[in-house]
Amino acid sequence: MIVLGIETSCDETAAAIVKDGRRVLHSTVASQLAVHRPFKGVVPELASRAHVERINDVIEEALSFHPKVDAIAVTTGPGLIGCLLVGTVTARMLAWVKDIPIVGVNHLEGHLFAGLVEHPKLKPPFLGLIVSGGHTELVIFKGYGRYLKLGATRDDAAGEAFDKVANLLKLPFPGGPSIDKAARLGNASAVPFPRAWIPGTYDFSFSGLKTSVANYLKSTPARRRAKVDDIAASFQEAVVDVLVHKTFDAAERHGLSSVVVGGGVAANSRLRAAFQNESKLRKIRVFLPDRSFCTDNAAMIAAAGYYKLKRALHRGEKLAVNANLEIENWKAA
Ligand code: KG4
Ligand code: ZN
Repeated sequence: MIVLGIETSCDETAAAIVKDGRRVLHSTVASQLAVHRPFKGVVPELASRAHVERINDVIEEALSFHPKVDAIAVTTGPGLIGCLLVGTVTARMLAWVKDIPIVGVNHLEGHLFAGLVEHPKLKPPFLGLIVSGGHTELVIFKGYGRYLKLGATRDDAAGEAFDKVANLLKLPFPGGPSIDKAARLGNASAVPFPRAWIPGTYDFSFSGLKTSVANYLKSTPARRRAKVDDIAASFQEAVVDVLVHKTFDAAERHGLSSVVVGGGVAANSRLRAAFQNESKLRKIRVFLPDRSFCTDNAAMIAAAGYYKLKRALHRGEKLAVNANLEIENWKAA
């Protein structure tokens, strides 16, 4: 089955064509970075307008490569409501015109499926870590459409912490890639920033770490302060340390032999190296999507949509597609 995926939940307008939920035939992402850069953050109303301007071109480009699609999958939430509406309304209209089925996909579920794209050997159950700009969630992927949430951030998401700390360090927007770049030249043990382990839980917290960076900058005179690259590397190490250890501890505890990491922060080079390292030490396989499928894209939505649609068709379920901010199937442990 060939599925056209559409993603507009935040600041990327994306369309992709995926075969049988695993093979990406085409993927295109129109970034809105230039629109939001002057504001150092995503401006929701500008994001919705930019989606309206770009969505037809992005879909037309995808369909020009593969005109024949069997179904459409579209992100229904969570995300910015105006942005979600642009995607869902366009997708519904296209499905009606083409007279093909349409399925709504949860954006976080999509980030987990990015690990399945182009990794045909990966099968559930596995442990999923989602680290994006808005979420940090540890989930057991029990089966397609069956998830058990083990923990989540209690305050800032990992990506949000990267973005806010980059701002404190006066690094350019978007913060995550800027810190990644600066940290490559820095010493990760220059500043001993704290790690919030929150023992006995699989929850995370990054806002205290962000405050520590702010306090360090405020209280250390410029001549005694570490270089920006060193501060960036030390901050990044504190985030990665917690993510790696809590994730692998959870996988061991739950007897899971595979870990999948998804979301924009999964593109971080130090995080990728640390997960690969720990994977060798603990003999647990780690699946990291290609960087282009870590940040928002529509291939992951098409992949998740394929499995959801297959289930629904099998059970004779009716599918409703409306923008919504709820997370379906996300059961707390
Ligand atoms: O998944 P995503 O594209 O959008 C959301 O669903 O939020 O994630 C965006 C987040 C941003 O916070 C961005 O700074 C972060 O991912 N990010 C990174 C890197 N690339 C993107 N963080 C650290 N290192 C990176 N290389
Ligand atoms: Zn995302």
